[in-house]
Amino acid sequence: MKKIIFVLLILAVAITGVFASPKPESKGAKTYKVGVAIYQFDDNFMTLYRNEILSYFKSLETDNVKYNVTVVDGKNDMAEQSNQIDNFITQKMDVIILNLVQTSSADAVINKVVAANIPLVLINREPLAYAKDGSTLDEQYEGILKNAKVCYVGADARQSGSFQGRIIAELPDHGDINRDGKISYIMIEGDPENIDAQYRTQFSIKYLTDAGYKVECLDDQVGNWAQSKGQELCANALAKFGRQVEVVFCNNDAMALGAAAAIKAAGRTVGKDIYLVGVDALEECQEMVKAGTMTGTVLNDHVGQSHKAVDVAIELLNNKPIQNYYWVDYVMVK
Ligand code: GAL
Repeated sequence: MKKIIFVLLILAVAITGVFASPKPESKGAKTYKVGVAIYQFDDNFMTLYRNEILSYFKSLETDNVKYNVTVVDGKNDMAEQSNQIDNFITQKMDVIILNLVQTSSADAVINKVVAANIPLVLINREPLAYAKDGSTLDEQYEGILKNAKVCYVGADARQSGSFQGRIIAELPDHGDINRDGKISYIMIEGDPENIDAQYRTQFSIKYLTDAGYKVECLDDQVGNWAQSKGQELCANALAKFGRQVEVVFCNNDAMALGAAAAIKAAGRTVGKDIYLVGVDALEECQEMVKAGTMTGTVLNDHVGQSHKAVDVAIELLNNKPIQNYYWVDYVMVK
């Protein structure tokens, strides 16, 4: 008998569950459709960033305003991302947040979103990188910049590169472990099409040479932001150049994590016979900096950037005026 009552009870709960109507939205509630296109889900930093976009939107919901956020994975394939943007346009998104796969394709993608009259917040991969210098700004970009509904939220990668150089410059031996008068380094780069990779590569070294240090580049390879590549490239360089390598510069922390494994496997010790720097300040790397197994990193503030991107998207939804650029500072971690 007890068993029958129990079964009936379960059935009753299930039936009520199936037929229960969803909670009615309060009168006048508005749901905005937000499309978020990420260049690739398989990226440590952009995973933190995208999760923060989602949770921040959620935290800003009220009884009257809801955000229906769709996040898509561009799988590092521009054609795929272009289709995803077409879908967002067909779905009549109210605003799009876009982390481009290829910044060289920026104008084509931006133009179609603009033509569909959908506000656009570009993040993380700066398409108009040269515009700030005034030098290579072409007319098309100028048009986009003047568009009241397009903006870029990001961090100036020159700052992160300079901080990496400064971390080395401020060491007691200034990165010259063997005291031969020069800092011998290897560079492990992110996707070279990406301005973050270009600027970090350039400005980490520029900081040192501007400060009067001599440098020697033993090796400069592309690791495409990936941990496995960082490990492979660092292992190869250590096998080839051995003790000559004094500093390992990685354009991001994922590659630095790989490099740290290669350094350990080669029997070298960070802080003693080699230095290692990255960018992002992933939690794991912050711990390593504290423990001394990484020399330093640079906080790439995914919380600040994602919140700014969402805040601006909401301003656009409310037809408020916006700026075309929003910059979030990097912070040195050593
Ligand atoms: C950089 C970040 C990298 C990677 C890249 C993707 O800002 O430091 O780890 O996420 O963006 O474009």
